[in-house]
Amino acid sequence: MKAPRTVFVCQECGAQAPKWQGKCDDCGAWNSLVEERPAPGPAPGGAAPPNRYMHVGAGGTAQLYAEVETAAARRLSSGIGEFDRVLGGGIVPGSLVLLGGEPGIGKSTLLLQAAGLFATQMGALSPPGGPVLYASGEESEHQIKSRGDRLGVGSAPLYLLAETCIERILEEMSRLRPSLVIVDSIQTVFSLKFQSAPGSIGQVREAATQFLFAAKAQNIPTVLVGHVTKDGALAGPKVLEHVVDTVLYFEGDRHHSHRVVRAIKNRFGAVSELGVFEMTSSGLRAVANPSKLFLAERASGTPGSAVLCCVEGSRPILVEVQALVSTSSYGNARRMAIGIDQSRLALLLAVLEKRAGLNLAGDDVYVNVAGGMSVDETAADLSVLAAVASSVRNRALSPNTAVFGEVGLSGEIRGIPQAALRIREAAQMGFTRVVLPEANLDPADDPSDGRCELVGVRALGEALDVLLA
Ligand code: TYD
Ligand code: MG
Repeated sequence: MKAPRTVFVCQECGAQAPKWQGKCDDCGAWNSLVEERPAPGPAPGGAAPPNRYMHVGAGGTAQLYAEVETAAARRLSSGIGEFDRVLGGGIVPGSLVLLGGEPGIGKSTLLLQAAGLFATQMGALSPPGGPVLYASGEESEHQIKSRGDRLGVGSAPLYLLAETCIERILEEMSRLRPSLVIVDSIQTVFSLKFQSAPGSIGQVREAATQFLFAAKAQNIPTVLVGHVTKDGALAGPKVLEHVVDTVLYFEGDRHHSHRVVRAIKNRFGAVSELGVFEMTSSGLRAVANPSKLFLAERASGTPGSAVLCCVEGSRPILVEVQALVSTSSYGNARRMAIGIDQSRLALLLAVLEKRAGLNLAGDDVYVNVAGGMSVDETAADLSVLAAVASSVRNRALSPNTAVFGEVGLSGEIRGIPQAALRIREAAQMGFTRVVLPEANLDPADDPSDGRCELVGVRALGEALDVLLA
C-alpha cells in the first residue's frame, strides 16, 4: 500500500512544499515549514467522502436580493455595552467572531463575563432562548467555574465544556442548541479529520472553517479566541482573518489596568471601533468615559505635556501626549516614541527643526502617550510637536487647552477629519480652548456651543506661538 502523502506547510503563509526546506519559497519566512498529513482520501470502492460543499446560506439556489431577509435588525446584546459597541451594535446571529490578544490580557475573562450575562438575558426571555456553550481547551471546568464565581456569573444557563476535539464540540452544539458558542482557543482545538498538531495552520484553518459552517448553518453566533504571536500577529495567520466575519483585537499594557478592544475587520459594522475596559479584582469593567481615565493623572502646569483629542472609530478620546527633551550625554542622540509611530516622530522632529527653528541636534527626545494608549492618526502631529517644543522651552501649555492637527513637511497645519466630534469632546471634558487647523474652523457652526475658544492655526510657528505664549 502506498504510504500516505505528506506535505510541508508554511505556518506563516500556508504555502505547501513536497519536502522540508529551511525557508519558505513563497513568503521567505525561515523555519516555518511543518509536516502535515492531509485527511485520508476515500478507500478505493469505499464510501464517498462527506460533501465538502456545505452552505453558509439558505441553500444552493440563488435568491432575489429584495426577498432576502435582513439580519441587521436582530442584533443581540452581549450584555456588555463596550463589547457591543466594537461589534457594531451587538452580536449578529450566525456570525463568527475572532477575538485575538496576548496571553493574560483578559480574553477568557471578557468572554466568560459576556457568556454569563448573555445566558442570563436568554434565560429571562419568554420562551427562554438557548443556553450559552463555553468550550475551553485551555482550562478545566473547575478552573473556569472558580473564575466565573469571581466574575459573578451565578446561576445563568451556561454550559462549560473542557474539550479540544472539534467534532465533540459540534456534537454538543447540536445537542444543546445554544444561542451563543465560545471556543477558547482556536489554537488548542483539533479535528479528527486532520492529522497534524493543534495550532498548526492546517488545523486552525480546518477548525475555523468547521465553526464557520456550524455557525451559519445553525444560525448560532460563535466567538473564537485566537492567540497572537510574539510580533503581535494572530497565530495561524491571515487564513483565520479571511474566514471569520469580525476580527477583534484585545490590546493594552499589562501593567496598566485598562484594556482596549478594537475591531480590525467587521462585516457588520464600522472598523476601528474601540471598547475600553478596566481590569478589576472582579473582572473587566466597561469604561464609559475613557477621556477621564486617560487624563486622570495629568499633572497640569508641567512643561512637555499636551492634550490631544483623537478619534477611534466613532469615539473621540482625549489623551495626554508627553515629551521629554534632554541633553544627550553620549555621541548619538536618541529618539524614542511610545504610543506613536517612531518614524512619524523622526519626520515631525525634522519639521520642527527646519520650520520652527528649534535645534534638537544634541538632544535625546522621548515621546509617550500616557496611559499606554497608542495613536496612529496624523491628527496627533501638532500635539506631539507642542509637547516637544514645550519641553525644549521649558514652558507649560495652558492646562485648559486641547490641540489637534496634521503637520505637513513645509510646516503647514492641515485639516483633519471629524473636527466637530473632537471639539465637542474637549468642551464636555471642561477644556476652554482648542487649537486646531484653520481649515477645520467653520465660522457658521460652533460645535462647542460657546464653551470653548476655537483658535485656528495655519503654520507650525504660529501654532507654537499660540500654545506657548
Ligand atoms: P485571562 O482572561 O485569563 O487572559 P487570556 O485569556 O487573554 O490569556 O486574564 C487573566 C488576567 O486577568 C490575569 O493576569 C489576572 C487578571 N484578572 C483580574 O485582574 N481580575 C479578575 O477578576 C480576573 C478573572 C482576572
Ligand atoms: Mg485564556
